[in-house]
Amino acid sequence: MMFNASLAIIALVLLVRNAYAASASDWQKRTVYQVMTDRFALPPSEDAQGKTCDASAQLPCGGTWSGIQNHLDYIQAMGFNAIWISPIVSQLQVPLPPPADGTAYHGYWPENIYALNDAFGSDSDLRSLINAVHSRGMYIMVDVVVNHMATYNTTSPSAAPTSPLAGISLNGYNPFNQDSDYHSFCPITDYGNQTMVEQCWLGSAAVPLADVNTEDQATVDLYYSWINTLISNYTFDGLRIDTVKHIRKSFWPGFANASSVFTLGEVLDGDAQYVGDYTNYLDAVFDYPGWGMILQAFQTTGGSMSMLAQSIQNTSTYFKNGGFSTGSFLENHDQPRFPSFTNDTGLIKNAIAYTFIGDGLPIVYEGQEQEYSGGAVPNNREAIWLSAYEQDKPLFKHITSLNMARQAAMNGSSSFLSTHMKVLSTSAHSIALAKYPMLASLTNIGQGSQGQVSVSVGSLGTGYSANSQLVEVLSCTEVNVDGSGNLAFTTQQGAPAVFLPSSMVNSKVCTNLVKNGSGAPGMFSASVYVISIAAASAIALSMFVGS
Ligand SMILES: *[C@@H]1O[C@H](CO)[C@@H](O)[C@H](O)[C@H]1NC(C)=O
Ligand SMILES: *[C@@H]1O[C@H](CO)[C@@H](O)[C@H](O)[C@H]1NC(C)=O
Ligand SMILES: *[C@@H]1O[C@H](CO)[C@@H](O)[C@H](O)[C@H]1NC(C)=O
Ligand SMILES: *[C@@H]1O[C@H](CO)[C@@H](O)[C@H](O)[C@H]1NC(C)=O
Ligand SMILES: *[C@@H]1O[C@H](CO)[C@@H](O)[C@H](O)[C@H]1NC(C)=O
Ligand SMILES: *[C@@H]1O[C@H](CO)[C@@H](O)[C@H](O)[C@H]1NC(C)=O
Ligand SMILES: *[C@@H]1O[C@H](CO)[C@@H](O)[C@H](O)[C@H]1NC(C)=O
Repeated sequence: MMFNASLAIIALVLLVRNAYAASASDWQKRTVYQVMTDRFALPPSEDAQGKTCDASAQLPCGGTWSGIQNHLDYIQAMGFNAIWISPIVSQLQVPLPPPADGTAYHGYWPENIYALNDAFGSDSDLRSLINAVHSRGMYIMVDVVVNHMATYNTTSPSAAPTSPLAGISLNGYNPFNQDSDYHSFCPITDYGNQTMVEQCWLGSAAVPLADVNTEDQATVDLYYSWINTLISNYTFDGLRIDTVKHIRKSFWPGFANASSVFTLGEVLDGDAQYVGDYTNYLDAVFDYPGWGMILQAFQTTGGSMSMLAQSIQNTSTYFKNGGFSTGSFLENHDQPRFPSFTNDTGLIKNAIAYTFIGDGLPIVYEGQEQEYSGGAVPNNREAIWLSAYEQDKPLFKHITSLNMARQAAMNGSSSFLSTHMKVLSTSAHSIALAKYPMLASLTNIGQGSQGQVSVSVGSLGTGYSANSQLVEVLSCTEVNVDGSGNLAFTTQQGAPAVFLPSSMVNSKVCTNLVKNGSGAPGMFSASVYVISIAAASAIALSMFVGS
């Protein structure tokens, strides 16, 4: 009896733990909306007050967990089924006016990892948000910082420091309130020296990020136990991990295992080989190398499609599971927004489309749907309430269509999630990509320019055979493949084209379908895609622009 009862309890505990212990393959079916908690939504009581937020001031603007909960409809309306929120723990407070690098409004300056950041709300507000997310069938990913604790340096610039931590008080830090909990102070001056990257300090002279000594086994055990408790306390479904390259690689598998959920790490570097190696230690990393290539390809009409193709090849070579072990993004809270580089809506739509058509977990940073255009930090952290959560915006609709198209591809073909995206062809201004049943042609011709490109592509599966019917899902245009396997399509203003077999396109993807050819060629700057599908293997795709 005793034995059976304990077994039942163990079974129950496992069940409870597994309820939200989402794995990498669970996350692969999702798309993620990145919420910067301070900037997404005010608490319901203040929502209507029209509060301003000057991102350049680097002060808290008042967003909270209850605010996020109150605006989950907006996120879900775009088709997202997961959110990523800012770090939740208690933060360093700096004197005001703040030092040059601002305040801890962003949540990345931990001081007490066992307490919540009360600027974002109470424990019950957080639990209420998580319950609301789960009751919608959505996932929630929490952001964590484990490499350092943030400190404020009171040493006056004129006084030479007398000890490594002179001017820094660790009073109130939990844990790590002793100098000996940290690596001795040295600033990171050489990013080519990995030991220095791992053991020296990030941050500024005013807000040094005291580098926790993660070479020490007791500290490692503490962090593993902390993450295990944090995840199970709050039933988070996934982890976004900050500054991964700043801790030795061997720290990570144990940390990921202790969390028991999907782990997505930030390794801020453009080199595919360097970044890819971290996928041997965590489930996934942000596709920073691919992001750099998307920027160069779509920032101007002069970007290189063959470099983009090469970077896709590099991902498959250097990442453990190729693109599957990446988080795909165009913007985030650390980088200038894409529209700060170009306001060409053709280019912007193509760059956004790339996030959704590949193997990586698609992630959109709050404000992309509003076409926010802030440049480098802190200007890329505009408050979303300033947009009044307007849903009738071109990019809001574009992102919704892409989310629906991805869902339809997933629902329509069981192999979508296990099929690697392939580059079919590139030309000066276009790249054709296939991840059956999705076929995409991206272009950087821009919203108004003209030219001609052609590409040849490989076999795409039965949905693309002669006489089959497809839909270009961003314009909701029906396209017939003719008897000899040719497909012609007209796209306008440099927009991307994403095709699915029409059998997979329901009213969630397109409410109305238009027939191809309704636009008169030559009346506007248009591009015509001609895709010929040969019976055996070869498919030729040509795009004539400005016909
Ligand atoms: C604290 O500030 C002083 C003066 O700017 C600087 O010399 C020192 O390196 C700083 N300490 C740390 C740990 O960054
Ligand atoms: C790399 O950085 C570490 C830590 O600062 C230092 O001890 C070591 O000498 C550096 N190595 C080289 C080759 O500069
Ligand atoms: C987990 O919750 C308990 C009680 O609710 C709290 O004491 C503890 O600090 C929490 N741990 C973490 C890591 O949040
Ligand atoms: C993974 O975590 C489980 C329980 O949290 C533990 O029993 C196991 O030893 C860990 N495995 C590794 C390889 O760390
Ligand atoms: C691909 O990887 C190779 C080897 O690391 C590198 O030389 C090349 O620049 C990379 N190409 C792109 C486009 O990232
Ligand atoms: C795009 O437009 C926005 C808002 O008008 C502006 O702030 C931004 O600088 C523009 N970007 C470029 C590259 O011109
Ligand atoms: C895909 O399937 C899921 C689960 O059945 C459903 O909720 C969702 O609406 C479907 N998406 C589309 C675009 O049909």
